[in-house]
Amino acid sequence: FENGRLSGLRLLITAGPTQENIDPVRYITNHSSGKMGFALAEAAAEAGAQVTLVTGPVFLPTPDRVQRIDVVSARDMLAACEAAMPCDLLIAAAAVADYRPEVVAPHKLKKDPTTGDGLLLQMVRNPDILATLAARPDRPFCVGFAAETENLLDYAMRKLRDKNLDLIVANDVANPSIGFNSEENAVSVIDRQQHVTRFGQASKGHIARALVAFIADRYRQA
Ligand code: C5P
Repeated sequence: FENGRLSGLRLLITAGPTQENIDPVRYITNHSSGKMGFALAEAAAEAGAQVTLVTGPVFLPTPDRVQRIDVVSARDMLAACEAAMPCDLLIAAAAVADYRPEVVAPHKLKKDPTTGDGLLLQMVRNPDILATLAARPDRPFCVGFAAETENLLDYAMRKLRDKNLDLIVANDVANPSIGFNSEENAVSVIDRQQHVTRFGQASKGHIARALVAFIADRYRQA
């Protein structure tokens, strides 16, 4: 692994889940551990990049020489990313909540005896952080992730196009030995020409170093 491959480049990496509050004591989130994003940040810093890591709530130590910014919600994450712009490369590894409760109740919600056993929570769409940054005039080289449980490559290619990305990393989260919260991963990277490059099952650290090297090469060619 060639050190210094990313010297002088500014990398913005998003990681972890987001938390969307329902009331002062409850929230909606997902199973993202942040491990893949943190491993990417560590590998990119090792490769000489100046790394800003914007992360949702996770239980992970900050990698050496990485500037970490902690956020909670998707809207906080977008604001932190916009404040960290401009950058040369963006790797969006965060599992951002697609929806948030439309209103955050100011007090703890109580069980309502008039509505029987049900509770309806009105949700609204969160901003798409990756698509928003990829649409800017100072757009960085954009790498997204697609975590899917079915039709992995089809959905990933659609995302690459819809969000206007340079590369997308597809991982199969239906397989419990890889993906969310596991120590290992196996991914396929798809480019705009629909070429697929496979990275076989390995530790997230190994996958991260291989991905960073691949992304650096593609960035240099772009
Ligand atoms: O559309 P989907 O959530 O599957 O897209 C996944 C990719 O988009 C990931 O790279 C994720 O970090 C990014 N994303 C984002 N903001 C959102 C939703 C997804 O940056 N609101």
